[in-house]
Amino acid sequence: MSLQVKEIELRVGDPASEAWLAVHHAANRAVWGEGAERISVEEILDIAPRRHEVRRTFVVVAAGSDAPVASAQTIRRTRENVETGGVWLSVHPDHQRHGIGTLLLARCEQSLRDDGCTRIHEHSGSPVENGDGATQFALANGYRQTLADLRQDLPLPVTEGTLTELDPGLDETAYVVETAVDALPEEWLEDRALLARRMSTDAPTGDIELDEEDWDADRVRRQWNTPSPIWAVETVARHVPSGQLVAFTDLLVRPAQPDLAVQSDTLVLREHRGHALGLAVKLANLRALQRERPDVTTVRTWNADTNTHMVAINARMGFSVTGWTREWAKDL
Ligand SMILES: CC(C)(COP(=O)(O)OP(=O)(O)OC[C@H]1O[C@@H](n2cnc3c(N)ncnc32)[C@H](O)[C@@H]1OP(=O)(O)O)[C@@H](O)C(=O)NCCC(=O)NCCS
Repeated sequence: MSLQVKEIELRVGDPASEAWLAVHHAANRAVWGEGAERISVEEILDIAPRRHEVRRTFVVVAAGSDAPVASAQTIRRTRENVETGGVWLSVHPDHQRHGIGTLLLARCEQSLRDDGCTRIHEHSGSPVENGDGATQFALANGYRQTLADLRQDLPLPVTEGTLTELDPGLDETAYVVETAVDALPEEWLEDRALLARRMSTDAPTGDIELDEEDWDADRVRRQWNTPSPIWAVETVARHVPSGQLVAFTDLLVRPAQPDLAVQSDTLVLREHRGHALGLAVKLANLRALQRERPDVTTVRTWNADTNTHMVAINARMGFSVTGWTREWAKDL
């Protein structure tokens, strides 16, 4: 089969864009089964500018055909970590193990190199602890593993009895929790920018160094308070004596998968750790999710397997491990 790699432009409602996405979904289903995560073209186009990313989209087609056999996107950041690119790549299950993934990855790596990237940092997921095709593929292509994450799922609803039992009972003269649905109050934004800044360097990254993200109130406003197809609920903890926000956690629900809430970031500022604030904000956020979105049946989260404290909090809430994610790096 004579193959061609083509660059295309993603557009909502465009059949070529939908065919490109269908390859990702088919490959994902082959790995995870019917519960595989889905995304929409609309969301992909929404995410990139919000995260200060520039994405290029590639397909592999056989000569004389329009039907893609493999799909990929390169991801470049423009605000920080500008030299660290990402690649999202899938080969249709009917066409795997014919060198197509290797061909497309080489094209993506060249494109990132041409655009000034010096390394790639990406991840792959597997329902199998020891890894699967993606692990072997990454190793075969010269990537080194930097970190392993546990994927954990919590079936909903969690009963009010369980939530109350887990509630650490904060001393309300010291800390209170506050929750916002779908947009953040203006008066949170300055503090929330500091939390986002710290978040960008506090989560474990293994042996790869990433820049601190330069968050300010405007960036938080753009990320969280501009219209988006993605629904969000956030809970913060406020330190009462200073009035400062010192912890936060987010859950997101994406329109392509309205029964799944994905845990985004959770952080407690170092100087306020040890007061059960992580558990308190997570429980309050879960309560809000259940109240606002009773259609959600699962909450999903990922944590570095070395982040034993966060994994222990999750286990107390009823999460169990359903997958393993590996983070990879390669110098270009
Ligand atoms: C991982 C994936 C992209 C590989 O695509 P592919 O076209 O089958 O890969 P290639 O044929 O180029 O494989 C190159 C080498 O990788 C390794 N490899 C790839 N798939 C493998 C598998 N299922 N089992 C073992 N080794 C595998 C082999 O060393 C292979 O060389 P070989 O066939 O000569 O033994 C494809 O399986 C896929 O789309 N998976 C789901 C999506 C995903 O995980 N993407 C990566 C993260 S973004």
